[in-house]
Amino acid sequence: ANILVLNGPNLNLLGTREPEHYGADTLADIEDRLTRIASAADMTLRFFQSNAEHELIAQVHAARDNSDFIIINPAAFTHTSIALRDALSAVEIPFIEVHLSNVHARETFRHHSYLSDIAQGVISGLGAQGYELALQAAIKQLNS
Ligand code: DQA
Repeated sequence: ANILVLNGPNLNLLGTREPEHYGADTLADIEDRLTRIASAADMTLRFFQSNAEHELIAQVHAARDNSDFIIINPAAFTHTSIALRDALSAVEIPFIEVHLSNVHARETFRHHSYLSDIAQGVISGLGAQGYELALQAAIKQLNS
């Protein structure tokens, strides 16, 4: 099965970006670990990061033809993007929302997500491990 891993704005800066919130791993480090987990489970992963809302939306649309599951850290678009929410609703592909930091322990504007109520699950505050936990959940489901 095929799993799409989407990362939103500024996550290309992981490793140097506010490590007290986001940890020391780069996005490439995280993707390497996910690739290892996926190949052991015979799953194909595709990664896409963008700082542009329309590019993320285009990937969600394309996922209709090439993905069975989406793991997404929408970053700041979590709190702003009705368009990304509508795209995920439109394609009807199950997804897990991941945040490195615990958004509920931060500024109030991070407490609301436009995606959480349509997500299958939300992982927030467990750092880079959150992506691995989301992947494990996706694999279990896709194999059942
Ligand atoms: C984030 C949390 C968001 O509030 C923030 O805008 C991000 C990253 C996280 O992974 O903790 O860019 O999604």
